[in-house]
Amino acid sequence: MAIERTFSILKPDATRRNLTGAINAKFEAAGLRIVAQRRIHMTRAQAEKFYEVHAARPFYGELVEFMTSAPVVVQVLEGENAVAKNREVMGATNPENAAPGTIRKEFAVNMGENSVHGSDSLENAAIEIAQFFKPEEIVG
Ligand code: CMP
Repeated sequence: MAIERTFSILKPDATRRNLTGAINAKFEAAGLRIVAQRRIHMTRAQAEKFYEVHAARPFYGELVEFMTSAPVVVQVLEGENAVAKNREVMGATNPENAAPGTIRKEFAVNMGENSVHGSDSLENAAIEIAQFFKPEEIVG
């Protein structure tokens, strides 16, 4: 297994409810190290660019509104198989389908306000990390 880096966002529903520490504890307990982290208020341009792959989907407008509605925490997580491990710890996109003990099962409000984002592949992780972090800001 390889040491990987993946990109993570703690979404507005999580920052609003003071859940950033509880969610970070889940990452760390799973062996994911937080090697970069910044709290930001995403601009509309940043959210539109980040989710441009979903631009044609019916939920795109709502998604951009939500992601810019309150601060988020952007992060780089590092560890063995970090992309898959993070997706396992997050649980399914829809909290109704998420496994017990996962972040989304415990904290997500619904499919849109689902507390966390995590990259879906190593290739996308690199692209997403580069949108928010300079290499020297990542301290592994
Ligand atoms: P995320 O991993 O950030 O990637 C795209 C996001 O779109 C997803 O999590 C959900 O929060 C959001 N979303 C809202 N509605 C839907 C939907 N019907 N299907 C998939 N994703 C949705």
